Amino acid sequence: MAKTVAQDLFSDKRIQEAKELLMAAVNEHREKITEVKPANKDLKADYEKLIEDFSQDRGGKLFYDYIGSGIGNGALVELADGSVKYDFITGIGVHYFGHSNPGVIGAHIDGAIMNTTMSGNLQQNVDSPKLFKLLLDQANKYGAGFDHMFMTSSGVMAAENALKMVFQKKSPAHRVIAFEKCFMGRTMAVSQITDKAAYRKGLPQTLSVDYIPFYDANNHDRSIEMAVKHLEWYFERYPDQYAAMCMELVQGEGGYWVGHEDFFKAICDVCHKHNVSVIVDEVQTFMRTSELFAFQYFKLDKHVDMVNIGKNSQICATIYRNDHKPQPGLISQTFTSSGTAINAAYYMISEVVNNGYLGEDGKIMQLHKYFSQKLDNLHKKYPELIEGPWGVGAMVGMTLFKGDTAKSKDFTFKLFDNGALSFIAGSKPTRVRFLVPAGVATTKDIDGVCELIEKTLNEMK
Ligand SMILES: Cc1ncc(COP(=O)(O)O)c(C=O)c1O
Repeated sequence: MAKTVAQDLFSDKRIQEAKELLMAAVNEHREKITEVKPANKDLKADYEKLIEDFSQDRGGKLFYDYIGSGIGNGALVELADGSVKYDFITGIGVHYFGHSNPGVIGAHIDGAIMNTTMSGNLQQNVDSPKLFKLLLDQANKYGAGFDHMFMTSSGVMAAENALKMVFQKKSPAHRVIAFEKCFMGRTMAVSQITDKAAYRKGLPQTLSVDYIPFYDANNHDRSIEMAVKHLEWYFERYPDQYAAMCMELVQGEGGYWVGHEDFFKAICDVCHKHNVSVIVDEVQTFMRTSELFAFQYFKLDKHVDMVNIGKNSQICATIYRNDHKPQPGLISQTFTSSGTAINAAYYMISEVVNNGYLGEDGKIMQLHKYFSQKLDNLHKKYPELIEGPWGVGAMVGMTLFKGDTAKSKDFTFKLFDNGALSFIAGSKPTRVRFLVPAGVATTKDIDGVCELIEKTLNEMK
């Protein structure tokens, strides 16, 4: 059978041998990272200078004094001061397979020898079609009928592309609807949708956005009724002006609020009745529920028009059907991703799909149950200090100090000093959240993090 030179290269046994040698070296070193530990005092002064200089160069202080050394082991990461911490925030939901993961390194090596190019509008390598097929097949697992995918380099660019396709299809409609407290990103257009005044302070208004309240689990019927009523009011007030409804199915940055199938279906039905497309933002939820896509978890396969993914996949994309196909020229990007990211995405998504992560009894939900149980125990022990847990799957949050923003933030800094990374989300109440590295996290890691949470709570009591 005819073969390309590249195929000969990829099957050259020296590549396999080199990979094994590299992996043996990485494994030998990463296995030295076994537990949380404080900074090495001999590295401290240089580290502080590094943080100070870096903060100066980037024009602002880092949220945490965090600069990775370049290695970790599973959920543990080493910082450049020699300290080791649990990474339970994973770059706000990116490092699903934790740190120095052998499978991801293997995929990166495959990507690195797949030429030295970036993939983009004009030129892609054979790894792109493979990834596109995997993602579209998975998106269509329950018959959603998606036809196409456009890859891009950030979650907000996936949102921009979806919006452009929708506006072109619905022209001259120019308004969108979104949920209160939503987060979709921070470009000039999308920062108008993200429901946070500070993120659009000083910017010209580039989009007209109206908001409806998100699902309230304590008032199931009423919240569906209110959402539908709000939509009907808007559609009556501005007839034919709406192009899209943008939905996060689990609000991430907004504070780990989980929606409901009935609620979303009711919204999709009203929107479609008024010729308004539904864009689902899965940049944070992708790979985090018992299904690969959260729209599958909420059984919205036939209800949603476009789906944006990002973060965990390390490539970002908009998935859509023929009816939203853009005209030539609307969507393009010089480079959309690197070979290493494309190969890592393929590896990680395949692992999650094929190796026991999904389903109600899959690894993601088991980790969730275990972590939630441990947080619930803490709630029972310290009912005044901690409430929750909230979230779903590999998104876990808790409310501390009745949701006080300053105290919650202070908690995350103290927890960081004690050896675990978390982050805040939402306001009124502010929550402390974890984006669990579900690809590698173990119950032992969760035990370790919970011990640090308890220690930190006791220090702040
Ligand atoms: C739900 C959601 N949408 C979009 C984005 C924007 O993604 P990015 O920061 O990769 O542009 C984020 C990032 O936090 C997100 O959580």
